[in-house]
Amino acid sequence: MVSLRHSPSARSLGLLALSLLSTFSTVSARLTSHGLSVTLNDAYYYISPFSGSVVVHPNLLKDVPAVFGFKPVTVIQGEVAQAGIQALLVKWDESDDVFQPAFARAIFLAGCKGSCKAKMKVISDASSIVPLNITTIPSGPYFLEMATGSLYPVYRLYEDFAGAFMQALIHTPDGKFQPMFAQIPGSAALTVGVPSRLYFTKTAAKPLAGVRLGVKDISRLAGVKGSNGNRAWYDLYPPATYTGPAIQRLIDAGAVVVGTQKTSQFANGESATADWVDYHSPFNPRGDGDTGGSIRGPAGVQGPFGNRPSHGLVSLDNVMPLSPTLDTAGFLVRDTAIWDAANAALYGSNYTSLASSKPKYPKTIRTIEFPTDPGASAASKLLIDFLNSLVTFVGGTVTLLNLATEWAATGPKGPPALAQYLNTTYPMIITKEQIQLVREPFYRDYAVAHDGRRPFVNPVPLVRWSYGDIVSASQLQDQDDVKASFMKWFNTEVLPPVADPKQCSSGLVLYIGSSGGQNPRNRYSNGSGVPFGFSSNCISVLVEVPDSVFPVGEVLSRSAITAHDEALPVAIDINAAKGCDGLLVKLAQDLVKAGIIPEPRPGGSINGGAILMRRSFGAVDIWN
Ligand SMILES: *[C@@H]1O[C@H](CO)[C@@H](O)[C@H](O)[C@H]1NC(C)=O
Ligand SMILES: *[C@@H]1O[C@H](CO)[C@@H](O)[C@H](O)[C@H]1NC(C)=O
Ligand SMILES: *[C@@H]1O[C@H](CO)[C@@H](O)[C@H](O)[C@H]1NC(C)=O
Ligand SMILES: *[C@@H]1O[C@H](CO)[C@@H](O)[C@H](O)[C@H]1NC(C)=O
Repeated sequence: MVSLRHSPSARSLGLLALSLLSTFSTVSARLTSHGLSVTLNDAYYYISPFSGSVVVHPNLLKDVPAVFGFKPVTVIQGEVAQAGIQALLVKWDESDDVFQPAFARAIFLAGCKGSCKAKMKVISDASSIVPLNITTIPSGPYFLEMATGSLYPVYRLYEDFAGAFMQALIHTPDGKFQPMFAQIPGSAALTVGVPSRLYFTKTAAKPLAGVRLGVKDISRLAGVKGSNGNRAWYDLYPPATYTGPAIQRLIDAGAVVVGTQKTSQFANGESATADWVDYHSPFNPRGDGDTGGSIRGPAGVQGPFGNRPSHGLVSLDNVMPLSPTLDTAGFLVRDTAIWDAANAALYGSNYTSLASSKPKYPKTIRTIEFPTDPGASAASKLLIDFLNSLVTFVGGTVTLLNLATEWAATGPKGPPALAQYLNTTYPMIITKEQIQLVREPFYRDYAVAHDGRRPFVNPVPLVRWSYGDIVSASQLQDQDDVKASFMKWFNTEVLPPVADPKQCSSGLVLYIGSSGGQNPRNRYSNGSGVPFGFSSNCISVLVEVPDSVFPVGEVLSRSAITAHDEALPVAIDINAAKGCDGLLVKLAQDLVKAGIIPEPRPGGSINGGAILMRRSFGAVDIWN
C-alpha cells in the first residue's frame, strides 16, 4: 500500500484561483511505501517496506514470475552442498510457517563456490540457483524488487480471529515500531503479520531470536499510540517516545513484537458481556469460556503456562500502573524453554535460572481448598492425580493449608479474622494509586484538550475509582500497614525462603487455577464492582511471591451453546517463596519432561485441534 501525503493548501476557492500557481509550485508530495500485500499460491503475505542494502542481479531470474515487479526468492547462507539443498528446503517448509516451496524458484546461494550456477531440480520445480557474495542477509524467503534488485523481508499474514489484538506492528530500522498496513479477509478482525523464523538464529546473546511477542496495551512501545483499553486515551496522547525497559530487554534478546493486545480497561478486571464497552473482549479459542484477570486468569481458562513474577524484580517503567505497590509483568507461554529464556531476559540479574542445574525441590507441599474425592468430577480426578504425581516426583508430603486458621494461631496479635483483616486491602490500594497516577492526569489533560469535558470510561474503572474517592489517606496508610504485616507473617511463617539457591523455597503452595468450569459470555453478569475480599489468588499479590499457572489437563464439558462436549483446561497455581521464580519454571520443565503435565499445543484444545471459526491458514500457530 502507498499513501500520498501533501502539505495543506489554501481552502478558499477565491484564494485558490489567485494562488493556484504558487500553491502548485510549493506543494511537496512525499510518497511513502508502507509495504505491499500479496498472495503467493494460497497464502497471504506482506512485503516489508524496509529492504536491507542488498542488491542482486535480477536479470538472472527471467523464468521466475513477478507480481507488481516483485519476485519470490530464497536466500541460503552458509556452506550447503547442492545435494543438500532439497532436504534443507523441505525442513524449512515444515518448520517455518512463512516459507513455502514457491519461494524456491530462485535461490541465492551464499558460500557458493562457482559450481552452483547450473539449473537443478528442487521440490519438483525447476529452480534457478544464483551465487550470492553477500553474507550479511539472513537465510529465508524474500521478495526481490526487479527494478532495483533489492531484497525485502516477507511476513505471513494471519487473521486475528480471536479479536485479541489492538494493533498489528512491525519493527522499523530505527528501533521503533509502525503499524502493519495489511488487511486480509476477516470479520471485524485485524490482520497480524509474522516474519519468517528463518531470519533469526538463536545465540547466547539472542536466546529469543525470532520468538513472536504480543504486548498488552498498557506497555508503551516507541512510535506506537497506546490505549490502556480506552478510546479517549488512545485519541488523546501521542505515540510513545521510547519502549519500556521490560519489553526492550525482550527485543534485545531477539523477540519480535507483532502487535499490541487488548486489556481490560486500565487493567481493571472486567466481564466480557457487561463491561467491555470501549472495545470488545477477546474470545477464548478453547471452548466458549471467558478471559479475566491479567496473566493467571487467561492462563487458567486457555491452558498455557502463565506467571506472576515476584514483585519488584521486573521493571515497570513506561507501563501504565494499576498499583505500583502490587503490579508485576509476566508471560503467557506454551514452551517452557522459551519461558525460562524470556524470564532471564526480562528480569536480567534478578532471575536465577535453574534450567541447566539439578534443583532440590521443596518437599513441603501445601494445598488450599483442594478436592479430596477423585470421583467427584473429572477435574477433581485430574487435580488429585497431579498432586499425587507431584508429591512422588519431589519425594515430599502434602499438608492442607488453611490460612485463616493459621493466621488465627500464629498471626500477629490484635487484628481480626483474616477475611475481614484483608477485605479492603486490595481495593483501597489499587484505586487510590490509580486515581493519583492515571485518572487525575488523564482527566486533566482531556479537559484541556476538549473544552472541559470528561472522557468516556467503562463502568468497572468508574465504580472502582468512585470507591477510591471515598477512601481517606489514613485508611490507605492503614491498608499499606495491613499488607506489610500479612506479607511479613506469610513470608516467615508459611512460605519462607531457604538459603540454598538450588532449593530457594521452603515449600510449594498449590491452589486451583481453573477446574474446567464454563463462564459463557452470552449471560448477563451482575456487574463486577469493587473487588472486596480475600481469596487464594490474592496471596501473591499481597505478599510479593511468584505465582505460576500450570495446565494439568482438560475436561469435557457439555456446552449449552454448541450442544457438544467441549474440552476446557484445568490448571493449578503454584506459589514459591519470593525470588524463587526460576524454581517454578524448572519445575514446569521437569514435569513436562516426566509426562506429569502436558506441554500445551495451539488449537481448540490443549492437545491441539481445530479452532472453531478460525479460517484455515495451516496448522501453525503464531505463538511459539
Ligand atoms: C559481489 O557481486 C557483485 C555483482 O556480482 C559485484 O559487483 C561486487 O563487487 C561483489 N562484491 C564482492 C565483495 O565480491
Ligand atoms: C531488578 O530489581 C531491582 C530492585 O527491585 C530493580 O530496581 C531493577 O530494575 C530490576 N532489574 C530489571 C532488569 O528489571
Ligand atoms: C468487605 O467489605 C465490604 C464493603 O465494606 C462489605 O460489604 C463486606 O461485608 C466485607 N466483608 C468482610 C468479610 O468483611
Ligand atoms: C446474578 O445475581 C442473581 C441473584 O443474586 C443470581 O441468581 C444470578 O446467578 C447472578 N447471575 C450471574 C450471571 O452471576
